Amino acid sequence: MPAYNTPDLHRAGFARTNRQTIQQRAALLRELLPETRSIAELCCGDCAAQWQIYREALPGLTFCGLDVAPAIVAANRAAGVPCVCGDALDPTVLAQFLGYDVIFFGPPLSAGCDGHRGLAFDAVQPGYVAFSNLLLGELRYGGTLVCIGPKTTHMGAIRGLYDHIRARRDDFGLRLIQHSHATVTGAGMPTESRLKYVELWFSNRLPDTWEARRSGPAAPETLAAYGLIGAQP
Ligand SMILES: C[S@@+](CC[C@H](N)C(=O)[O-])C[C@H]1O[C@@H](n2cnc3c(N)ncnc32)[C@H](O)[C@@H]1O
Repeated sequence: MPAYNTPDLHRAGFARTNRQTIQQRAALLRELLPETRSIAELCCGDCAAQWQIYREALPGLTFCGLDVAPAIVAANRAAGVPCVCGDALDPTVLAQFLGYDVIFFGPPLSAGCDGHRGLAFDAVQPGYVAFSNLLLGELRYGGTLVCIGPKTTHMGAIRGLYDHIRARRDDFGLRLIQHSHATVTGAGMPTESRLKYVELWFSNRLPDTWEARRSGPAAPETLAAYGLIGAQP
């Protein structure tokens, strides 16, 4: 098995998704996919917040995490979160998620999952191309795949992944490019507004519209980029 990035549980600060970003995803699910009955969180890390917030937004939801690190799985289970242990690039492991309406794929975006040494889109492991080849190309998943990309994700990388997916599944499109901004860290510490993730919502249940959205309070650099300095976020 390749040497994957796994968190050091003894470090309180290992990377986890902040609650504002998760709340934004829950709002998008209610808007775009209100019939969602099951969500899988792959490369889940500490996903207690996802489990709580998604179920509040979609009562009766079935949720399950997947992580390659046994200690992470044990910690999630101890918190009551359904979670299985395995490699997201293992076909046997991934096959158990084919019945889920929505799959969030959130591989480590920093070296050692420390949340600081950020990785570029193409350096992320397990990679988006290898994962989508397996899930969509080989296992023929039908539903919505949300690839959680680093904040540095650019249109060239998005186009490349889209073309890769379309070459294998011309029924899949890119519904949304979501720029998630937040004013809290994964550990809940307040910060100025920051662009945290670029999420790519691929689906064969939603139109191929490539809509670009920004959620959360806009970071200064985004306002500048859109020439909106001085405007209300
Ligand atoms: C630290 S978390 C951060 C991202 C997480 N999706 C979140 O939302 O917070 C990333 C997790 O991916 C797990 N991981 C790394 N490689 C993996 C693989 N090949 N299959 C499954 N999990 C993996 C790591 O053990 C780690 O817990």
